[in-house]
Amino acid sequence: MSANIIETKGIVFTYADGTRALTDLSLTVPAGKRIAVLGANGSGKTTLFLCLNGILRPQQGQILCGGEPLKYDKKSLRRLRSRLGIVFQDPEIQLFAASVQQEVAFGPLNLGLRETEVRQRVQQALAFTGIEKLKEKATHMLSYGQKKQVAIASILAMEPEILIGDEPTAWLDQEHARKVMDLFYAISDKGTTVIISTHDADLAYSWAEEVVLLGRGKLLGKGPPEELFNHEEMLAAAGLRQPLLLEIYLLLKEKGYVLADTGTPPRNLGALSRLIREGSECRSSS
Ligand SMILES: Nc1ncnc2c1ncn2[C@@H]1O[C@H](COP(=O)(O)OP(=O)(O)O)[C@@H](O)[C@H]1O
Ligand SMILES: [Mg+2]
Repeated sequence: MSANIIETKGIVFTYADGTRALTDLSLTVPAGKRIAVLGANGSGKTTLFLCLNGILRPQQGQILCGGEPLKYDKKSLRRLRSRLGIVFQDPEIQLFAASVQQEVAFGPLNLGLRETEVRQRVQQALAFTGIEKLKEKATHMLSYGQKKQVAIASILAMEPEILIGDEPTAWLDQEHARKVMDLFYAISDKGTTVIISTHDADLAYSWAEEVVLLGRGKLLGKGPPEELFNHEEMLAAAGLRQPLLLEIYLLLKEKGYVLADTGTPPRNLGALSRLIREGSECRSSS
């Protein structure tokens, strides 16, 4: 497997009504990382994901998966989608089986796996997502947050190399949003490449190892969050702001409440409070 698991080369996608959604987009996605595609509404995040799994086909440019150009015949697409699974933004459109168990079994059955293997994968996916108790439930009876978990489990059961979550925290309350992001963290910990889209700079900053910034279908920037979020003008061009935690850190640094040479900026509250504590200890001992 190539180190860049997905690569797009100058892709252009225009919808039938003439809307240009992606413009000359070239990017490489490194294998095994947590990647956030960050952009305002309408910046092309969903279109990009639909291109990556072959639902949409760019009019120009090329997409490579594991070094191989995407092919659009049925067999190649089925293979691609078993390697690259998308959890769509709205679980209501993703779920269609009568029960949770059937829903999660659908993908592995479609892969032509043996029944014992299917059963094992379903069990593992339910356990991993913490929804074993729901397995006999009718999918239409579930809460929105539970539907999201089932949608994730159904993709996990295919054991994809790449898991994509399109705005995975959209319309979830804080607790369910945290659960989903923890789950995506754990999936990445197992070695799967995990890509999410979001318009939430705070989320991208705290969760991702690599951030891809989109604005009006164009790539505006790419890099580790500590670097990318330093570029205020670039964020403004994307209609976004710096993460709150970073703004607070920079303000505290400017006012001398944290030491000036602390290395990389903190990406969670625990790390920030540690820096403030160290700063105040240093001030009181001098
Ligand atoms: N089916 C469609 N037909 C026409 N235009 C669309 C369609 N879907 C999305 N678009 C347009 O393409 C652009 C990118 O949309 P989208 O990829 O959904 O962005 P995001 O996911 O970042 O919100 C927007 O201008 C949007 O209005
Ligand atoms: Mg979208």
